[in-house]
Amino acid sequence: MDSSKCEVIELPKIPDRRGNLTFIESFRHIPFDIKRVYYLYDVPGGASRGGHAHRDLKQFIIAASGSFTVVTDNGYEKKEYYLNRSYYGLYIPTMTWREIENFSSGSVCLVLASELYNADDYIRDYKEFKKLAAKGKNDDKA
Ligand code: TYD
Repeated sequence: MDSSKCEVIELPKIPDRRGNLTFIESFRHIPFDIKRVYYLYDVPGGASRGGHAHRDLKQFIIAASGSFTVVTDNGYEKKEYYLNRSYYGLYIPTMTWREIENFSSGSVCLVLASELYNADDYIRDYKEFKKLAAKGKNDDKA
């Protein structure tokens, strides 16, 4: 996979009459070491989460229950991903603006993260994000 791009990844699923099981291993199913796990739940109807990018953080987002839409933006291109199965996840590389919206009632958004929580890693201003994304692209060309 190209770890500089968003990608939906299908995870292993062990079907069982007693209930299905899915697992995730660092560097086998996702291209980073998992340092932190968090989840969003009890999201009220109409609410949206995210609305920021990260300088160094990579994430993997799973609809552990229910469904929602993740809108990603690398500064040049926006994409929408509808997640509604617990055996699929969306890999999000660094420097990606994301919004998570249209949470179904009772949904759980499970996030695996490559770094510990660090407020300084956030870019919360969209204009600043666009500037940094453009600079990153030019630096890549140099
Ligand atoms: P934030 O990342 O802005 O939420 P989201 O992007 O999901 O909408 O985080 C919301 C608040 O929670 C913010 O005050 C920081 C805090 N927080 C932590 O303390 N640790 C964490 O691991 C995360 C993800 C957030």
